[in-house]
Amino acid sequence: MRRIALLGPALWLLAGCEDAQSTFNTQGPAAQRIAHLSWLMTILFIIITLVMWILIAWAAVRRRGTLEEHEPVDVGGGQGWITIGGLLIPLTVLCILFVLGLRLLASFPIHDPMNQRALKPDILVIGHQWWWEVRYLDGDPDMRFTTANEIHIPANQPVTLELLSADVIHAFWVPALHGKVDMIPGHVNYIRIEASHPGTYTGECGEYCGEQHAHMRLLVVAQSADDYRAWTQQQLKPAAEPTSPEALAGEQIFVGGSCSMCHTVRGTTAGGHVAPDLTHIASRQMIAGNSYPNSTAYLEAWITHAQSLKPGALMPDLTQYSGVQLQELTAYLQQLK
Ligand code: CUA
Repeated sequence: MRRIALLGPALWLLAGCEDAQSTFNTQGPAAQRIAHLSWLMTILFIIITLVMWILIAWAAVRRRGTLEEHEPVDVGGGQGWITIGGLLIPLTVLCILFVLGLRLLASFPIHDPMNQRALKPDILVIGHQWWWEVRYLDGDPDMRFTTANEIHIPANQPVTLELLSADVIHAFWVPALHGKVDMIPGHVNYIRIEASHPGTYTGECGEYCGEQHAHMRLLVVAQSADDYRAWTQQQLKPAAEPTSPEALAGEQIFVGGSCSMCHTVRGTTAGGHVAPDLTHIASRQMIAGNSYPNSTAYLEAWITHAQSLKPGALMPDLTQYSGVQLQELTAYLQQLK
């Protein structure tokens, strides 16, 4: 009853954050189990805090005795409070939480090194300063492709991710789906995510990784089986051939200029590997590590003023283009669906 009574106000407080990126807003089985433990901790915290404040208030308002009425602590008065309140209760609470936490951790089989040897990851995610490289690892080489920053998965199906880093330590974290797992250079970690229903779930790099750590965002798009298949088929295709004269001119600028040094567009000679694969950039919702909307204005701003939008990023300010060239470049990128 007490738990239910406390849940009421807490739920009311959280009601405004339905779409928020929160560990309590669970959309998958793993996150749900973590949330149960989080709720238990929150409820215990509220109960203990309330009891503490009641005791503090009681101590403050109760009648003060004379000095003769009080025994000093070392004679025995108040020792019980210290033993029970200061030692036994914290020890019990912490032990219970520790055991529950270990049991929860062990229930995710992915963390067992014995299981990991038999694992076949579906997707490899590599953390970069400050974006996510996403490689789909189908057994058939013809079915593999690379994208960035937006991970599509089929809903209601566990998907195993292999996590790596290209530079410093990052952490993969999509709170609605699972807990946080570090991405460490030279060390492979795994996480198995599952979304209970289609939707877009936001994530965040969960480990400070430099200047633009806050602009290293992630999107997980869970789709119905049919939508997911259609998306995969589209991603497998090489880049769309430009049809309009504007986009054709843009392709020339992209392939012949500095863009192709860092970015890949499959089907063209642009084959750089230090920056996100742009083969289907127009199909993605956001740009710049999901920091800005994928719109004409932001694309142009990103090309010319990346260092103002995301200082320190590897993308330089490309100020050499005329207004017309910039429009052509953007027209080319926007038809890479
Ligand atoms: Cu990557 Cu913080």
